[in-house]
Amino acid sequence: SLPVDSVQALASKNLKNIPSRYIRPEVEFVVSIDESQQIPVIDMSKLDHDDGQKKLHQACKDWGFFQLINHGIADELIEKMKIDTQEFFKLPLEEKMAYAQLPNEIEGYGQTLVRSADQKLDWNDMLFLFPLPVPLRNMRFWPINPPSFRLRFISFAKNLGTDPKMLSSFFEDGAQSIRMNYYPPCAEASKVFGASPHSDATGLTLLLQVNEVEGLQIKKDEKWLPVKPIPGALIVNIGDIIEIMSNGEYKSIEHGVVVNQEKERMSMAAFQSPKVGIEIGPLADLVRKNKAQYKTVT
Ligand code: SIN
Ligand code: FE2
Repeated sequence: SLPVDSVQALASKNLKNIPSRYIRPEVEFVVSIDESQQIPVIDMSKLDHDDGQKKLHQACKDWGFFQLINHGIADELIEKMKIDTQEFFKLPLEEKMAYAQLPNEIEGYGQTLVRSADQKLDWNDMLFLFPLPVPLRNMRFWPINPPSFRLRFISFAKNLGTDPKMLSSFFEDGAQSIRMNYYPPCAEASKVFGASPHSDATGLTLLLQVNEVEGLQIKKDEKWLPVKPIPGALIVNIGDIIEIMSNGEYKSIEHGVVVNQEKERMSMAAFQSPKVGIEIGPLADLVRKNKAQYKTVT
């Protein structure tokens, strides 16, 4: 991969016109189809009831995105994790560079991998870590500052761990990666992507909005809908792997991020995936009903 500058450092130069590699004429995130429309809210404490399960099923089928409340992760842990994340991005660039990505590797502090000199860039810096499985955990990329970061991050990551009862054998001992995103303010905010439209290639994504600045948008009925995060909730979305396993019943929805002209934005996405290397395909029961719509993948 080719090296790219820290967007945070670039933004701090207060340039009126940003480099052309960040300008994306295709930015067409439009305001909500209907402001009253929002992604469903799922109450995790009610999933034992038929009604709660039905709501979850409908949310995965019709939206591929929902906000999860009463998820059982202590508010205090979440609040402290948010502070640690903010503290990390506040460190001087030289200090963050101690955790810089290695060539062709996504892990560590840096940006999306860049394969060619004319590749367009997202207005985003990140810290990408792989908490699970433990043998793949590479502490070399885990910040020692703020001092609380490592321990707190481990308990946060553990709290987010996928319930092994869910799709049991596939997700037990599964893989987890966590991406902390930093989107600096941008003088030409309406012309850049914080994250270009994509679907998540992983199993299930749990997203935490780290500060109060919104920016996530999802594609709904061919239009873009801004997500309004509920304080304390986790935003959950179906990734490609669950779409495949569900034989297309649940959808991995395209989404992206817009940035703000004055304010920085931060988020944290935990990607929960099956065991590394196992084969994934449409689940047998679902293929019986409706022949396989996807090939198997690892
Ligand atoms: C992403 O989906 O890539 C990031 C989501 C976010 O920052 O809200
Ligand atoms: Fe994503």
